[in-house]
Amino acid sequence: MELETLRDLYVHELKDLYSAENQIIKALPKMAKATKNRQLASAFNQHLGQTRQQAKRLEKILKSHKESTRAPKCKGMEGLLEEGDSVIKEAEKDVRDAGLIAAAQRVEHYEMAGYGCARTYAQLLGDRAGARLLNTTLQEEGRTDKKLTTLAKSAINLRAKKQKKSSNGSNGVGNAISRIVRKLKRR
Ligand SMILES: [Fe+2]
Repeated sequence: MELETLRDLYVHELKDLYSAENQIIKALPKMAKATKNRQLASAFNQHLGQTRQQAKRLEKILKSHKESTRAPKCKGMEGLLEEGDSVIKEAEKDVRDAGLIAAAQRVEHYEMAGYGCARTYAQLLGDRAGARLLNTTLQEEGRTDKKLTTLAKSAINLRAKKQKKSSNGSNGVGNAISRIVRKLKRR
């Protein structure tokens, strides 16, 4: 797709956000499953519902411009979610919760940047309905980000600070082996 006009860029941004939201819809259940903290899990689950609505809003705006939702995969979001995934795999318990929040906040800020730009383009192009929908999503992302900060400050970061290194050292291989041994013992 060639980007010659601001409208082209607007559509490009909407499609990019749509790809990002769909990747988040797939990732959030995994993130909710990865935490033992009930409040954090419920924050992720609640945001999953919001994210589905956000994707629908983008569909609506693209449709109003007679554009499809088809677009290349948003690589920025792919990278952020990959980092979140490695936190799930590599971090232990309370440190994992703190790491999940950090990953989720990166995601939120990336989205906020995208939605902020898209809303501005909508305003400049006179797409008032689009601007309103994008603003609704932008506010939701901002509230989610604040909620994550509150959760991190309330206890999760402090618990992560208290978490001791596991007895067989801090290396990833050692941790992985001890996890497998624990799993086998449980059988
Ligand atoms: Fe979103």
